[in-house]
Amino acid sequence: MSDGTNASPDLLEKLNAALAWEMRATVLYEHYAAYVKGIHRLHLKPFFETEAAESTTHGRTVREQIVKLGGVATKKRDATEIVHTTDYKVMLQEAFKTEQKAAEGYEQILAISGEDSELFDTMQQISFQEQRSIEELTQLLD
Ligand SMILES: [Fe+2]
Repeated sequence: MSDGTNASPDLLEKLNAALAWEMRATVLYEHYAAYVKGIHRLHLKPFFETEAAESTTHGRTVREQIVKLGGVATKKRDATEIVHTTDYKVMLQEAFKTEQKAAEGYEQILAISGEDSELFDTMQQISFQEQRSIEELTQLLD
């Protein structure tokens, strides 16, 4: 390709969307870890901090794949509003929506990364982790 990349624009666009979403997720979880109140803070602060760290790691992994493909990684988080609240149930609902959208994004990437087995395996590992987060949040919201 003329711009020196060896990946399709569609793949790079979807990887950048996933990266932007992970950066948003990191901020969302750090924000909720800071604001969660009451007795639930005991469990949910460390839970949100762990999820923030996982989102940062996912973002790092996606960024590295974009670099490997010769693309330019976005530096902007997704602009979707992070709802400010001190209500832990709202926090968990917003986290659930965030993980669901992340999982959808990785499904789209997996659908078009079949020929690149390293990319596919890496994205599949993240996708499994997103699925586990969704299951965990489903239990927490029950
Ligand atoms: Fe993630």
